[in-house]
Amino acid sequence: MKDFKVFNLFRNWVSMLGMLGAILAFTSIAILMVLDTLAHFSNPYIGVLTYIVAPIILAGCIFLIISGMIWQYNRIKKGMTNTSLPVIDFGKPGVMRKTIIILIVLGITSGFSALLTARMYHYTESDAFCGTVCHEVMEPEYTAYQNSPHSNVGCSECHIGSGAEWFVKAKLSGLHQVWAVLRGNFHRPIKTPIENLRPARDTCHTCHRPEKFFGAVLRNWTYYLPDKNNTPWTIKMLVHIGGGDPDHGAVQGVHWHMEGVNDVEYIATDDKRLEIPWVRVTDQNGKVTVYQTTEEDKVLTKEQVAAATPRHMDCLDCHNRPTHNYWAPNDAMDMALSSGRIDADIPRIKARGAELLGNEYETKQEALDAIANTLNKKYPAHPKLTDTTAELQRIFSNNFFPEMKARWDVHPDHIGHKFTPGCFRCHDGKHKSESGKVIRDDCSVCHTILAQGEGTHLKTLSASGMEFKHPEDIDGMWKEELCHTCHTGAP
Ligand code: HEC
Ligand code: HEC
Ligand code: HEC
Ligand code: HEC
Ligand code: HEC
Ligand code: HEC
Repeated sequence: MKDFKVFNLFRNWVSMLGMLGAILAFTSIAILMVLDTLAHFSNPYIGVLTYIVAPIILAGCIFLIISGMIWQYNRIKKGMTNTSLPVIDFGKPGVMRKTIIILIVLGITSGFSALLTARMYHYTESDAFCGTVCHEVMEPEYTAYQNSPHSNVGCSECHIGSGAEWFVKAKLSGLHQVWAVLRGNFHRPIKTPIENLRPARDTCHTCHRPEKFFGAVLRNWTYYLPDKNNTPWTIKMLVHIGGGDPDHGAVQGVHWHMEGVNDVEYIATDDKRLEIPWVRVTDQNGKVTVYQTTEEDKVLTKEQVAAATPRHMDCLDCHNRPTHNYWAPNDAMDMALSSGRIDADIPRIKARGAELLGNEYETKQEALDAIANTLNKKYPAHPKLTDTTAELQRIFSNNFFPEMKARWDVHPDHIGHKFTPGCFRCHDGKHKSESGKVIRDDCSVCHTILAQGEGTHLKTLSASGMEFKHPEDIDGMWKEELCHTCHTGAP
């Protein structure tokens, strides 16, 4: 193998083809990247092309170049072509110069790939990627997110957090998801709760410190009854949000159950975590109390308890929809009426609007048409017809997603207890410890009603709190039955 020259290794059609492809891919990436830096892409597909598709092509081309070189090397070794093994003699004229050129080219290429990888990392983390690349699949989550208090918080801050371990996990499961989307093989709606969501202590806790909360917050609800006049009914209450750090106030109230303060563990028997027959509390002083349901058909045997892995309660066991919150028809209507976006003088609009929102539809278009047609029929020539139709259609588009089957009733929110079991999963008065202690369910444990009654602006407040008055006479049934046995969030 005499007269071998390194460059001879490139002299085969496979490597040549690879080089041609690589140059093309490389230049297009470079140009696209300059463009993205100067004026950020708003179209995520160009982003996918730049940071994912083109680099994969580039990598493929480099693979071709190398394979061609190996192939050529073997051919040279077997004497199939007339060249020799490399003998690098820096004494020879030109060798030094060529080596330097090769090193520079290698340096630039690796620097460039490093930069590219960094950009790719950044890009797959971006909200545009998460929310719009898989537009159909993520539309519900992305839309709700944009209308939530977290719309400035990146998807990855809650779904991935910091550190390499979860980044790798997320990317691996992400690849799996992209594959599922490409095959059209995914759940509609996406299944919740997410089994492998990163624990709240690594995500929510980086921004929020509820253990430092104390006292109460004032909440005001105005409901519109489903009658002809859309009669308003207001409830004003202090929600005892409490906290878990004695330096900032008493350890009490809603944020009493916090990891690291009062550790609450539970066993759920369904995959939505709505049935909770077993709860164990380890309080600040290390005292352990186990509460079991007294309902005979739900109580767990010793063996079932031993076989289960209890879940440590964290933020997500209450705030499971902090950002992908789909409004229930009744709540969405109440909100629109109380803020004046829909006129409460339109007869029966509360009941009709909520019904239109809550109906089952195959597609979004079908729903938008149904809203327009029904309102047209019921309120012909009403001066507010156009505005009301537009508003109802807007509410629908932001909260109901027939294609992905995502809406309030498939993703139950655990905050509260009106139309989902929520807090009453444990606080139902039926969870008892061996010593007879019951997880409290009296209405004043979590909130104090300051004012309630017909109208929107109530004038009398009660400082000591008042007993709940159900807006409709239901013969005290609300004391016997949990609220969600009658209330569903829709008419
Ligand atoms: C404030 C934190 C937070 C942010 C920001 C956030 N998510 Fe979520 N997301 C959650 C939580 C918590 C759940 C789990 C809900 C459950 O398990 O019931 C979730 C669930 C999901 C689900 C599962 C389906 C569902 O509706 O529950 C998808 C898909 C999703 N998020 C996508 C996104 C995308 C895309 C973004 C950015 C556009 C994003 N998330 C931003 C907290 C967040
Ligand atoms: C990157 C920071 C960040 C992370 C991570 C984060 N949040 Fe928030 N959160 C915010 C901001 C900012 C607000 C809005 C505050 C405001 O405008 O008053 C907010 C608001 C809230 C609110 C009040 C919402 C309301 O309706 O007023 C709740 C509850 C909440 N976050 C829970 C969570 C939970 C649960 C998680 C974890 C899944 C989480 N947050 C993760 C920054 C964050
Ligand atoms: C036992 C259920 C529960 C747990 C666990 C819980 N929260 Fe809350 N949180 C609530 C309720 C209920 C409210 C009051 C909601 C309201 O009226 O707006 C609240 C309110 C909040 C608020 C808004 C406070 C305000 O001033 O308006 C934030 C932020 C918040 N929680 C964050 C968190 C975070 C972060 C965690 C986990 C470390 C957490 N919570 C754990 C039930 C819970
Ligand atoms: C997994 C079960 C479980 C869930 C779900 C749950 N709690 Fe609790 N909670 C407990 C246990 C156990 C206690 C301690 C026993 C008691 O005080 O009655 C407790 C105590 C409390 C207390 C009294 C704290 C104090 O001052 O001593 C409040 C307030 C409270 N919970 C509010 C809520 C709210 C609001 C929700 C829903 C957003 C909720 N809880 C959901 C298990 C739960
Ligand atoms: C374990 C805590 C807890 C107990 C016990 C409790 N509530 Fe609540 N309640 C809440 C929370 C949390 C909310 C929702 C706060 C929010 O949405 O911001 C709520 C909301 C409400 C609302 C407003 C409903 C809505 O979502 O529109 C009413 C009315 C109400 N509660 C009445 C009662 C009555 C009556 C009782 C007694 C039978 C009771 N609550 C017992 C925690 C509790
Ligand atoms: C036996 C069935 C039943 C139970 C249990 C019940 N409600 Fe109601 N509730 C009704 C009916 C019927 C109305 C009339 C309006 C309607 O049909 O939506 C109503 C109306 C209301 C309204 C005003 C309008 C609306 O739809 O939002 C509130 C607020 C309310 N209930 C809260 C509660 C709370 C909180 C509980 C649990 C403590 C509860 N209810 C338990 C049947 C019930």
